[in-house]
Amino acid sequence: MTNPAPAAPADAPRTQRPREQPVIEVMRPKTTTSPSATPTAADEARVAVRIRGLNAWYGDFQALQEIDLDILHARVTALIGPSGCGKSTFLRWLNRMNDLVPTARATGTVDLHGRDLLSRAMDVVELRQHVGMVFQKPNPFPKSIYDNIAFGPRLHRRIPRRELDALVERSLRQAALWDEVKDRLKRSALGLSGGQQQRLCIARALAVEPELILMDEPCSALDPKSTARIEELIRELRQTYTIVIVTHNMQQAARVSDVTAFFCEGRLVESGLTDTIFTQPAHEETENYISGRFG
Ligand SMILES: Nc1ncnc2c1ncn2[C@@H]1O[C@H](COP(=O)(O)OP(=O)(O)O)[C@@H](O)[C@H]1O
Ligand SMILES: [Mg+2]
Repeated sequence: MTNPAPAAPADAPRTQRPREQPVIEVMRPKTTTSPSATPTAADEARVAVRIRGLNAWYGDFQALQEIDLDILHARVTALIGPSGCGKSTFLRWLNRMNDLVPTARATGTVDLHGRDLLSRAMDVVELRQHVGMVFQKPNPFPKSIYDNIAFGPRLHRRIPRRELDALVERSLRQAALWDEVKDRLKRSALGLSGGQQQRLCIARALAVEPELILMDEPCSALDPKSTARIEELIRELRQTYTIVIVTHNMQQAARVSDVTAFFCEGRLVESGLTDTIFTQPAHEETENYISGRFG
């Protein structure tokens, strides 16, 4: 920090706002489309995932340090921060994708409605029923559109055909894809456009009715029109689902999220209502990042 004589260290908060309390009491939807979309006071305080003291390593390298964050139910939380600051690592611990990386380990707790997702006792197959993930590059299975959606639910239980048909239709409708694919459900998902494939992956995630959906830069491989559709979809889904989205696009974070969390070098610098983070961040690092001075 170049300022020669600051009254306080450059990384000190400019306000007295304590780091951990911000999001709960200030939550309010940015757009209220109907009275039923207005949350009650109780809704405002509902936490879907409570993360405490999360540390993560790859071998000796510590990628996350003492992360404390509450992810609010039925809201969109955007994770922003410079490349390599640990956003994907954070997301990948929320659904234990890092189990696949031999050098990866973590300490702390990730509590989803009373279950600690980091616990050794946590069955990862069961966990995937509660936590869905959508990746940067659309990754449909080399199967039919129908089977892509039916795959997850079938893994968890035997489902009568008629019920499965209804579930496939419902998931595709929720992902705003049904009208485009209803006449070719048995055709390969690989024949869809990139934007359609990503909506298919979202439909696939929704099909197991997860409590939490994680999206790691879901639009970065898409054209602007497909990106706009996915953003619209995220705004619709947040009425029902809890969503955490990593994005490099500040405008996107501002457009789709209720809460924004800013990460830097493995630390959570601050989190809060998106409008507040973008207009009056408490930390200089955040302001520098969102105004494009680094990252
Ligand atoms: N599989 C891995 N093995 C070793 N280091 C990794 C691995 N994945 C990520 N890292 C390192 O961890 C840090 C955080 O990475 P990541 O979570 O991917 O950041 P972001 O998503 O914010 O760009 C980076 O320094 C990255 O190089
Ligand atoms: Mg990443």
